[in-house]
Amino acid sequence: MKISESELTPAQIVAELDKYIIGQEKAKRAVAIALRNRYRRKNLPEELRDEVAPKNIIMIGPTGVGKTEIARRLSRIAGAPFIKVEATKYTEVGYVGRDVESMIRDLTNVAVSEVKKEMSEEVEEIAKQRAEEALLDILLPPVSFPRRRPGEADPSSKVQEESRSSTRERFRQMLRSGQLDEKLVEIEVKQPRAQVLGMFAGTGLEEMDQNLSNMFSSIFPEKKKRRKVTVKEARKILEEEERDKLIDMDKVVKIAIERVEQMGIVFLDEIDKIAHKGSTHGPDVSREGVQRDILPIVEGSTVMTKYGAVKTHHILFIAAGAFHMSKPSDLIPELQGRFPIRVELQSLTTDDLERILVQPKNALVKQYSALLETEGVKLDFTPEAIREIAEIASYVNSQTENIGARRLHTVMELLLEDISFTAPELKGQTIPITVEYVRSKLKDVLENKDLSKYIL
Ligand SMILES: Nc1ncnc2c1ncn2[C@@H]1O[C@H](COP(=O)(O)OP(=O)(O)OP(=O)(O)O)[C@@H](O)[C@H]1O
Ligand SMILES: [Mg+2]
Repeated sequence: MKISESELTPAQIVAELDKYIIGQEKAKRAVAIALRNRYRRKNLPEELRDEVAPKNIIMIGPTGVGKTEIARRLSRIAGAPFIKVEATKYTEVGYVGRDVESMIRDLTNVAVSEVKKEMSEEVEEIAKQRAEEALLDILLPPVSFPRRRPGEADPSSKVQEESRSSTRERFRQMLRSGQLDEKLVEIEVKQPRAQVLGMFAGTGLEEMDQNLSNMFSSIFPEKKKRRKVTVKEARKILEEEERDKLIDMDKVVKIAIERVEQMGIVFLDEIDKIAHKGSTHGPDVSREGVQRDILPIVEGSTVMTKYGAVKTHHILFIAAGAFHMSKPSDLIPELQGRFPIRVELQSLTTDDLERILVQPKNALVKQYSALLETEGVKLDFTPEAIREIAEIASYVNSQTENIGARRLHTVMELLLEDISFTAPELKGQTIPITVEYVRSKLKDVLENKDLSKYIL
């Protein structure tokens, strides 16, 4: 189980985030407090608990400085149902497209499949055993003995049974050791209903409510098909079936909905793109419509999902946007009011970029080194070379477009292109990456401004 949010203090949450994100202290603090507040709320007396609404957050900052990364890491830490959505992908109710309520339905789907996964881990062992028995039944179909008159003893029956059960045990051993894996067997496979409903994909019908979907399932009853598969596949299919039988879906749904309502986090990206100034016609009207549709969800309302009603009152919303072309004050006032916490993320300095290259757990230098290590090639970066890479990235950011830490990806890719290409022939070598190496690989591109626009 992940570390639960209840155990982490704000300082610990920030420390966790520090493992992946450099700088951006303010944003880290804000999300840490928001997370801790939910734990505090849980410990309140009931009357008060329902009164405390989450303090939603807007993260403002240029592209590539860690907005999405912070939210993504936060969700892992929280072990909370989490979804990241782009505000721009929704359309106003009544227009063709996804309505904003679907974000809550998606979040619920996420929670349900997470809870289901946890539960299936619990029943894993039993499911495996049952699948094995089922598989043995298929391999050695139980024979039906001819009916005898009562009282008429069959002298051979006991012997038969014993030999049957010892054969079964022999087969069990063979199964376990994988000797039968490639053997073909015939089993009944349920045809997933999604496949049948798939024909409605894209028509908006996928989002139909429970009643409608029940209606459809009676029109298209669950189909079973006999299929020839290998024992290996059959085992997988049977395990899955047994697992589904063992899991109490009502319980899964109940826990999932509870989690969504109490701990869910929605990360609403690109919020700046639905803000606008002044004008009252064209696409702007629809954007404002989307903002209006978002209002009740953020405020607290009940959304119908295929698993039942979900209340959004305590879901935490974290919105993010660059706000280059617009300002948070261009959002409709009601929406601004529902995001009381504003945090600004800073543009990344050369120092930041230098640290981003090496420090985070998933740092680029670590990634490239590990990738090439699989080919037996060792990269040895000198500290000065790292500094040089950061400076180049910073320079290109200032000369062309500032794309933040993403610039490091393009620079590193170009820097290591030759090594990546020839790695299979360099097996066993250690390649020093020095300042000179960096300069020699990147010089041409740097000297030619037009070229760097395209390549870096
Ligand atoms: N402060 C940082 N520390 C470490 N890595 C970072 C930082 N900022 C960005 N990165 C890395 O840069 C990439 C892009 O970051 P991210 O997705 O968070 O950008 P963003 O701020 O959401 O930008 P956009 O506005 O374009 O969505 C990610 O791979 C991330 O790991
Ligand atoms: Mg982003």
